[in-house]
This record gives sequence, C-alpha cells and structure tokens, in this order.
Amino acid sequence: MRKGLPMLRSGHESGSLTPRSVEQTWRRCRNHGMSRRQFVELLSLGGCAAALAACGASPDVSGEAVQPWVKDPSPFIRYPTNLETRLELIRGFITPNDLFFVRNHAPTPHIDVETYRLRVEGDGVERPLELTYQDILDLSGQSTIAYLECAGNWRSFFAKVLGQTAAGGQWGTGAVGCASWTGCSLSAVLRLAGVRRNAVDVNLLGLDDGEFNRPMSIEKAMDPDTLLAYAMNGETLPADHGFPIRGVVPGWAGSNSVKWLGRIVVSTEKLWVRNNTTSYVLVGPDWPAERHHPADGSPITTLNIKSTLALPWPANLQRGSRVLRGFAYSPHGTIARVEWSADDDHNWRPARLLQPILEHAWVRFEFVWEARPGSHTVRVRATDARGNTQPEAVPFNEKGYLLNIPLPHPVDVA
Ligand code: MTE
Repeated sequence: MRKGLPMLRSGHESGSLTPRSVEQTWRRCRNHGMSRRQFVELLSLGGCAAALAACGASPDVSGEAVQPWVKDPSPFIRYPTNLETRLELIRGFITPNDLFFVRNHAPTPHIDVETYRLRVEGDGVERPLELTYQDILDLSGQSTIAYLECAGNWRSFFAKVLGQTAAGGQWGTGAVGCASWTGCSLSAVLRLAGVRRNAVDVNLLGLDDGEFNRPMSIEKAMDPDTLLAYAMNGETLPADHGFPIRGVVPGWAGSNSVKWLGRIVVSTEKLWVRNNTTSYVLVGPDWPAERHHPADGSPITTLNIKSTLALPWPANLQRGSRVLRGFAYSPHGTIARVEWSADDDHNWRPARLLQPILEHAWVRFEFVWEARPGSHTVRVRATDARGNTQPEAVPFNEKGYLLNIPLPHPVDVA
C-alpha cells in the first residue's frame, strides 16, 4: 500500500497547500531526485516553495499544480482534463500504468485510505453497509485482463474523416488501454448487503467533485467479471485510475467503470442520472429517443468492435518493408481476424494475430507493408468470433460516440 504524505493545516503556507498540491509537489521533487524524508522535512519547514527551491524546480506558476491528473503527462496527447495514450509507445500486450489514458471529469481526488469507506445502500438491499479498504482487500480476490475504452474514443474522426464535427473532447485513437485488474467481484459486495429480488439498477458513485456516477443493470452488476478493482497491472491502483477502489465493467463503455468509488446504490427502480440521459447517449436524427424514457437518446452500454494501427495520425515512415502493428478489440468475444488494405485497393489481406487472445482483452496484430514514397492510407478491419465486423458506415451521433468504421490512416512515406 502506498505511504501517505503529511497532511498540513492550511495557514501553514499560502492557502494553496492542499493534499493535492503536496502530492503534486512531491512528484515534482521526486523527479528531481529528492528523497521522501528530505521532502517531508522541507515541507514542514517552508512548505511546497521550500521543497521546490531545494531541488532547483521553480515554484509553480505554470498552472501545473491545478492539473487534473497526478501522473507525468509528458508521454500523452494532452487535453484540458484528459490524457490520451500514444498507442505507438506501447511495447507489449499490456498498457503500462504510466501510459494508460486518463479520462477525468474533475481533478483526481486525494483519498485517505484510513478514513475511506465504501457505502452500499438503496432500497434494493436488505442490509445497507459500510466497508473499509481493508474489508475489501480481505474479500476473495480475482484478476481479469480487460480493455477499457472511452465511448468517445475516435470522436475526432467524425470531423477528420466524415466531415461532420461531433461535440466533446476530440480524441484520436488512444482513449483505450488494456490492463490486468485485480479486485473482488461487485456481486460479492452486493451479496454482503443482500440484494432484493426486485432490484433493477446499481449506481456506482465516485468521490470526485460532482460525484461522477453511472448506473448499470443488476444483471451486469452481478456478472462475475464485473469487478471492484484495487490493483492495476500488479500495482496498487494509481490515483488517476481510481485509488483506492474503482469499478471495472468489461465490455461496457469506460464511463461505467467508476473511479474513486465511494457509494453503491442498489435501486428497485430504473435510475436516470446525467450520464445515462444527456451524456453517454446516442443522439441524432438516426438515433431517436425512446418513448416513455427520460433520456435524450439511447444510453450506451456495450462498446463495439474496433481495430487501430499503433501509429501517430498522420504517420511518417521510411520507404521499404515496414511491419505495421496495432490493436483490435470487441466486447462480444475474442477477435477472430484482422485484415488490412492500402490506398483503397479493396483487397483485404490477413494480418497476423499475436498471442494471447483472451476474452475481454485486446489483441495485437501485425503485417508487413511495402512502403513506397508518397502519401498513402492504410485501413484495418477486425472481425470477432461471433462474426461482428467493423461497418463501412455508421449513422452520425451528435456527441460522437462509438465510431468504428475502418479508419483511413494517413501514412506519408519518405
Ligand atoms: N469515474 C469517476 N469517478 N470520474 C470520472 O471522471 N470517467 C469515466 C470512468 N470513470 C470517470 C470515472 C470515463 S468516461 C472513463 S472512459 C474511464 O473512467 C476512464 O478510466 P481511466 O481514466 O482510468 O482511463
């Protein structure tokens, strides 16, 4: 478990000395080679400014202290509140924690595990309860390798490829990652509280500002693969990814995998909240709202099949035989094949799939492409074991979710 940094009273320094600014200052000082002991001493003597001065870092005037994330943002494509993975930096099958994309609606909160409690409540449980972090660690644990994708991943291509701009963060292809998640099943916690037979929905609520939350059906909540995770790739869950506890809902839009989980509400009625009425819903002329239904459109649950080259957009390559690599994933089952075509030749050739090929995880693929000088487009297309494949066209939706056509990836060859 990670060691806590000292909690200082405000008034000790300027009003900006919050647990969050201490945490961020510590990260900067550590990156400059300072030991934890030195940092704690300097902090108690002269606050963050003293610690930063001692390691040669300038006091923060860059706005860094108000960054919504904790991790080092330098390997990422940055947005005001989010970090997008550059897929080409991933070397293996798993996305390392320091390269995993971050989607934050509010800044990453600092949560003290000593006082942390997870509450389970609502009219759908017989015995409302409160669990400590240790109570959750003591429950029987399991690990699942699963990809996590934001429903808005690829949104920028509505404008770049289809010429119709969708509202929201203009993600490229990197709002997706694949990690090994360890935790207990959500169903184990729900059973402790006694789920009533007429329970319908389960809402997971975060401890971030605005209490980000997203209800799921009782069936998905009771699925043995739906987790309350406390570890990611064998490490304590990082702050940006939901420390101490997050939901992991394989195959469903990333918004269901609520981070910094503070409350679980089990309801005997269908729950309508912001994130299944106005956000994370498919809205547009081809997506009419359902009748007798308070949502603006159709709420997104399951993701869809996609494949992407692990290359910058646009990519620049040297001429000659090039091995192009990428990732393919489907919420409906394992990937059966990935094909590629270049320059609209309508000749789909098979790519090689690399092991492992696991339910819930993405799969790596590669193929050799003879790169000739000039401007090209390369497309990849995945098909899963149930026969789902990427469509040639999808109806536009105003918020830009779930685009999954084979993308015409621009590649310039010198
Ligand atoms: N949980 C909380 N509490 N707050 C959030 O902003 N963002 C959601 C989900 N869980 C979010 C959250 C969205 S939209 C996505 S795509 C995933 O977290 C992203 O998880 P990550 O930041 O660990 O990659």
